[in-house]
Amino acid sequence: EMAEKAGFPHFMLKEIYEQPRAIKDAIHGNADVINAVAREIAKYDKIFIVAMGTSYHAGMVGRYLFQRLAKKVPIVEDASEFRYEFEDIIDEDTLVIAITQSGETADTLAAMKLAKKKGAKVLAIVNVVGSMATRIADLTLYTHAGPEIGVAATKTYTTQLTVLTMLAIELARILGTADEDYLDELEAGLKAVPNLVEEVLKHDGGIKELAESLVDKRDFFYIGRGVSVPTALEGALKLKEISYIHAEGLSAGELKHGPLALLEDGVPVVAVAPSGKTFDKIVGNIEESRARGAFIISLGDSEELGRVSNAFIRMPDMDELLSPIVYVVPLQLIAYHMAVLRGNDPDKPRNLAKSVTVE
Ligand code: AGP
Repeated sequence: EMAEKAGFPHFMLKEIYEQPRAIKDAIHGNADVINAVAREIAKYDKIFIVAMGTSYHAGMVGRYLFQRLAKKVPIVEDASEFRYEFEDIIDEDTLVIAITQSGETADTLAAMKLAKKKGAKVLAIVNVVGSMATRIADLTLYTHAGPEIGVAATKTYTTQLTVLTMLAIELARILGTADEDYLDELEAGLKAVPNLVEEVLKHDGGIKELAESLVDKRDFFYIGRGVSVPTALEGALKLKEISYIHAEGLSAGELKHGPLALLEDGVPVVAVAPSGKTFDKIVGNIEESRARGAFIISLGDSEELGRVSNAFIRMPDMDELLSPIVYVVPLQLIAYHMAVLRGNDPDKPRNLAKSVTVE
C-alpha cells in the first residue's frame, strides 16, 4: 500500500498532488470528442444537471459556466430530489447531464433511468470506465482522473470542472453566444490551469501551519459569490467529511440573513474571493464578518485581501470562470491537514463510503 501511495502518507494527499496531471489528461482525453457532445447539447433548451455531493457542486459550477458563456441556464438538482420531483416535467425535449465519479451512485443512476424512461437524452460525465452510468447514458464523457482511492473526492472534482469548462466553451462557440477571442483566451487559460494548480500546491507548508492554528475551532463558514458559491460549499463539505468539524458554505450575500448571528470572536470565515464582478461586494462581507470578531482566511489575487484578512492565501491571476478549478485546491489542503492533525484517517472517514450504492 505504501508503494501505491508513491511516498505520500495518504491517498488523499497523493490525489491532491496528482491534479495538475489529471487536469491535463482530462483536457487531452476530451479534445476530440467535446465538439460532437456540445453539438448535441446545443439542441436542447430544457437541461437538467443531476448529481450528489461533490459531483453536485461540480454541477453548480457547470450552471455558471453554461449561463455565462452559452446563455443556457440548466436546472441543477441533487439526484435524490430530481428522481421524485421532476417526473412529470421530463420529456423527449429534455437533456439530463448526470455527473458521477464512480458511475455507481444509487440516486444518480435512478435519476438517469427515470430520464431515459421519459424519453430524455442522457449525457454522463464519469470517471470510472465501464461503470453503470456509462451503460445507462446515451453519451459519456470521461474525466480521465485515474482511480481515486480516498473517500474525499479531489482530482475527480477538478477534472469534472475541466470537462464542464470545455463543454461550455464549445457550446458558446457553436451558439455564437460569446466573443470568439474571449473564448480562445479562456481555452488557452484552461490549458494553463495545471501550472496554476502546481503553483498553488507550493502553499501547502503555509496551509499546514494555518491548519495548526485552527485545529481546535468548532465551526467554520465558507463564503463566496457567483461562480465561487459552489467552491465555498465544496470547501465546507471537504472539512466536514474528513475533519468532522462543523462547516457551512453559503453565498456571501446570505450572511446578513441569519448566519451572521453565529459569528463571534475567533470563528473562522473562509472567503473565496477571486477578482471579478462581485469582488467589492465580498470585501464588504469580509469587513462585516471581521467587525463581529471573525478570523478571516481569504483566497484571492488582490492585495486588498491581505489588508482585510487575518490570513491571506495569494492565488495566481486567472479568469474568474476558471477559478473554481484552482481555488478548491487550498480548501482541499486545509481539510486534509485538519483531519490529520485531529488524528483522523482522511482516506477512510467514519460513516462514509466511497460510492453510495444505496438510497
Ligand atoms: C465527496 O468527497 C464525497 N465522497 C461524496 O459527496 C461524493 O462526491 C458523492 O457521493 C457522489 O459520488 P459520485 O461522484 O461517485 O456519484
